[in-house]
Amino acid sequence: MTDAHFETVGGDRPLRGVVVGAGFLGPYWVRELQASPDTELVGWVDVDDERLRARAAELKLATLPLGTDLDEMLTAHAPDFVVNVTAPLAHHAITTAALRRGAAVLSEKPLAMSMAEARDMVAAADAAQRLLMVSQNRRYMPSLLAFRETVARLGTLSSLTCDFYIAHRKDHDSFVTTLDEPLLFDMAIHLFDAARAVTGADPVSVYCESYAAPWDWFAGASSANALFQMTGDLRFAFSGSWCADGFQTSWTGRWRAIGERGSAVWDGLRAPRVQSAPGAALEAARPASVQRRRRNRFAGLADALGEFVAALRTGVCHRANATTTCAAWPCATPPWPPRGPGRQRPSSPER
Ligand SMILES: NC(=O)c1ccc[n+]([C@@H]2O[C@H](COP(=O)([O-])OP(=O)(O)OC[C@H]3O[C@@H](n4cnc5c(N)ncnc54)[C@H](O)[C@@H]3O)[C@@H](O)[C@H]2O)c1
Repeated sequence: MTDAHFETVGGDRPLRGVVVGAGFLGPYWVRELQASPDTELVGWVDVDDERLRARAAELKLATLPLGTDLDEMLTAHAPDFVVNVTAPLAHHAITTAALRRGAAVLSEKPLAMSMAEARDMVAAADAAQRLLMVSQNRRYMPSLLAFRETVARLGTLSSLTCDFYIAHRKDHDSFVTTLDEPLLFDMAIHLFDAARAVTGADPVSVYCESYAAPWDWFAGASSANALFQMTGDLRFAFSGSWCADGFQTSWTGRWRAIGERGSAVWDGLRAPRVQSAPGAALEAARPASVQRRRRNRFAGLADALGEFVAALRTGVCHRANATTTCAAWPCATPPWPPRGPGRQRPSSPER
């Protein structure tokens, strides 16, 4: 936890929020702001007016203010916060506009499309003294939390690995198909964040090669191998592909952590397992029992919203979600060599 460098919102009224983005995920965020007793939905924005009105009609939001212009919505309704659930190319413009107008921002991943954009967003949050948080909804998975607890029992860690292999053929209309780096920007970023969540370590440097298999059905490279050096001299190795038929992993990958007291494995879905070093006699932590998925809700969004609201109220936020660490991730940035047999990307977080 860190001390706040952002303004909190006092009073006992619900926090007033505007959702920006009415594509696939936008309506799920709208439902969360409606369902939470701590928030009030005061407007919904999307550049695509037809889509926005259709989605609002589906959700029976006859009186909710709708608009195509965020500035106008901010002027008219002065929300406490904005949820940025636009396509990633618009994240920088929407987030900085909201921050500069005095609204806190809860953004979908990825924070930004480049380190330059990310730094600019963090600077905008600092200048405005407003909270900027990235929602990482997988952090709240009960089995991930159990894996984290199990990994903590291993003592000092030397290595963490994550394999992610899915044949992802469904997103044909999505912005994902237009990205130069669909795997790294849209999917692997969840798993990179999970590596931090599970170990509590932060990245120090990374070597990454992304590449397109000869049969790659994405416009950009959908396979990658990355080796991160993390704090505590931990190595985190990621291997993944979105064009891999056969022996598929879960959508949260397949994991192994090696520590001084044994090894823990997790299939990304069910309970983790552990095998001890001689004399250690470890047991794996059990996932908390899962409530049945609520209809029309997206896993983890309510938890992320709850954490965001708590931070805005108290001025205390989990360090891993705070703006400073968003900027510290050596996230995929576009300007490495164009598509070819392999893209090499030795880098440090300061790239
Ligand atoms: N956490 C998760 O598990 C998860 C799942 C799906 C999507 N996402 C993230 O959510 C975000 C949105 O994804 P999606 O699948 O809903 O995308 P989408 O393409 O279906 O919808 C994006 C919407 O943003 C709108 N938009 C684009 N530029 C805009 C602008 N400047 N101002 C206002 N609206 C604008 C588009 O018109 C579109 O309606 C992405 O960042 C994505 O990575 C996260």
